[in-house]
Amino acid sequence: MLFVSTITLLVAAVLPSVTLAAPTNTTIVARAPASFTHPGAFVSLPQLSFVRDKVKAGAQPWTNAYNQMMSSKYASLSRNPTPRATVECGSYSNPNNGCTDEREDAIAAYTLALAWYITQDSRYATKAISIFDAWSTTIKSHTNSNGPLQTGWAGTSWPRAAEIIRYTYTGWSSTSINNFSNMLRNVYLPGVINGSNSNGNWELVMLEAAQGIAVFLNDGASYDKVMTKFLGRVPAYVYLKSDGAYPKAAPGSGL
Ligand SMILES: *[C@@H]1O[C@H](CO)[C@@H](O)[C@H](O)[C@H]1NC(C)=O
Ligand SMILES: *[C@@H]1O[C@H](CO)[C@@H](O)[C@H](O)[C@H]1NC(C)=O
Ligand SMILES: *[C@@H]1O[C@H](CO)[C@@H](O)[C@H](O)[C@H]1NC(C)=O
Repeated sequence: MLFVSTITLLVAAVLPSVTLAAPTNTTIVARAPASFTHPGAFVSLPQLSFVRDKVKAGAQPWTNAYNQMMSSKYASLSRNPTPRATVECGSYSNPNNGCTDEREDAIAAYTLALAWYITQDSRYATKAISIFDAWSTTIKSHTNSNGPLQTGWAGTSWPRAAEIIRYTYTGWSSTSINNFSNMLRNVYLPGVINGSNSNGNWELVMLEAAQGIAVFLNDGASYDKVMTKFLGRVPAYVYLKSDGAYPKAAPGSGL
């Protein structure tokens, strides 16, 4: 009993987003915490501060990585975001009507958020916010065959960026936060929360996006739904010899 609850504590410490069902049962169940820890989604405040301290001290490999980040086009303070009402992505992003633009603007917002945190130079935070605003006041939908995958790709970067800005920078206005939250809730989340039964890589990136969005929106119900799917998909995606001759099937895949 003591042993099992020690394991429970250890697992809870390593995987703060996942809790064990009961001390005598090691089945992992999806369950949102009573309140989410922010910034979250991808990196935590202790991780961000750890890296900032390493960069300040000139330690490697953090300083080289930081320098590469700061000299990349994604950290540029002169980026002009190019939002669209409809991002249309066909197979292999052909046609590519806003697909690369959207992904790169979202990656830039995340890069700028990291740059803000490490430098504490507010120009990076306000640039990230201007990218949030450009997209949140414009985008309405993702269309064509790669639309769900595209929503997952772009949708993983937005909450990573927004969590850092919202919880470490005081200058993000409530109207702008509201617009951005509505964008994630209405344009992105419905496109990714059901996952995709077609390909594991599609479903996993869609669920990653949905999970980050649920954290940003403090939406425990969506978080539980996503994690339930994730916990079914991972054993189907990663083949173990102990699975037998065939990989496990994802729940609902009909296989
Ligand atoms: C463990 O808990 C899960 C979820 O509540 C349940 O489905 C499963 O049957 C339990 N397994 C055992 C061995 O008790
Ligand atoms: C929020 O959205 C409204 C409606 O699209 C828009 O008028 C307003 O300018 C937006 N605010 C910000 C800060 O982007
Ligand atoms: C997702 O599933 C729900 C039912 O659980 C359904 O109402 C909704 O239309 C689905 N969304 C998409 C985009 O297919």
